[in-house]
Amino acid sequence: MKSKTVKLASRVERVKPSFTLEMASKAADMRSQGIDVINFSVGEPDFNTPEHIIAAGKAAMDDGYTKYTAGPGMIELRQAICEKLKRENKLEYRPTEILVSNGEKQSLYNACQALFDKGDEVVVFSPYWVSFPEFVRLADAEPVLVNTLPDKQFEADFEDLENKITSAIKGVIVNSPSNPTGGVWGEEALIRLLKIAALHDWTIISDECYERLIFDGEFISTEKLNRDHNIGARVITCMSLSKTYAMTGWRIGYAAGDQTIIEAMSKLQGQATSCANSIGQRAAIAALTGDQRPVEEMRLQFKERRDLMVKLLNDIPGVSCAVPGGAFYTFPNFSEYLGKKVNGKVIQDSFDLSDYILNSESVVTVPGDGFGAPGHIRFSCATDKETIKRGLSKVANALEKLT
Ligand SMILES: Cc1ncc(COP(=O)(O)O)c(C=O)c1O
Repeated sequence: MKSKTVKLASRVERVKPSFTLEMASKAADMRSQGIDVINFSVGEPDFNTPEHIIAAGKAAMDDGYTKYTAGPGMIELRQAICEKLKRENKLEYRPTEILVSNGEKQSLYNACQALFDKGDEVVVFSPYWVSFPEFVRLADAEPVLVNTLPDKQFEADFEDLENKITSAIKGVIVNSPSNPTGGVWGEEALIRLLKIAALHDWTIISDECYERLIFDGEFISTEKLNRDHNIGARVITCMSLSKTYAMTGWRIGYAAGDQTIIEAMSKLQGQATSCANSIGQRAAIAALTGDQRPVEEMRLQFKERRDLMVKLLNDIPGVSCAVPGGAFYTFPNFSEYLGKKVNGKVIQDSFDLSDYILNSESVVTVPGDGFGAPGHIRFSCATDKETIKRGLSKVANALEKLT
């Protein structure tokens, strides 16, 4: 039967596909052909979920937690989140100010849907996590890209921000520690952003999914600074179990903030996915209230890998890599290699460079252009030290052949 041409909604056109997934599928294709691929594109911990959390997931099924839960999340989990926010972040919240989602990604998406409309603008700092501009576009709003300072942990370039302020801006998304840069903003920069947001009545969406992966110094939540300094900004804090507890597949994240906004997000979520999965929610209670030593063990391993990776990258001629203060990515600058040639073909941008490294040495990386950062490439530390050494020596090898 002849199929008719499908007319898709315009939002499908407006949204970009996830190119990080494209790199991962290229790698999978090569692996299936028996090629020894080294994958630096991974956006999740390579560790398994700690055993006591897995046990709680199994017990949840045996104990009958296999049904829908309350839309905003089981009350026991929202209470555990409130206790966690008090214990770790020194923030007091009530369960009615918490929304549990299918991963933090859904909380971030819900927040944009609940807060922004057609004609609104939302500040997104560049380099950005690929989903931020897309969340904004999916809410029919427009992202306003603002530069950051690579020498200062990719904190905002406030001059650029001030120059781009318009009355259409309704919000700002900040992500510290950051994906893709690993940059961690200092208190001063966060306070400055909070004051600008309060002055212009913007809502800050603070993505703090890497809060427990800080290598130098202490993590301070944006909302904590807001309260301590009586700034009066409106902050929706979004957090995740994914990275902290190596639970990416369980899909549990949450948002904390103003009850009116949380209720609006919950209303939208209720019509999209009803609630987060019940087994994951039970496991999340065990994660938040149980033994925290595995979190520290993973953090220490990521720190060692970060140090090794930064050193080996900086050893490659023409490559410069700032030391990321958190998360599990390095974001070196390869600009010196742009414009060079291989077999008569010019390497125009970081997409070409990543592709060349993949095709010549079977090393998967993520090109910075996709994060709004030409010349950069993202390397994930979610792989063991031997693989890091082997992979980066292959990268050096590939670069040496460029003329
Ligand atoms: C910056 C950032 N925010 C949010 C998420 C999503 O986390 P979750 O697995 O909780 O949806 C990720 C995952 O890669 C991320 O890097």
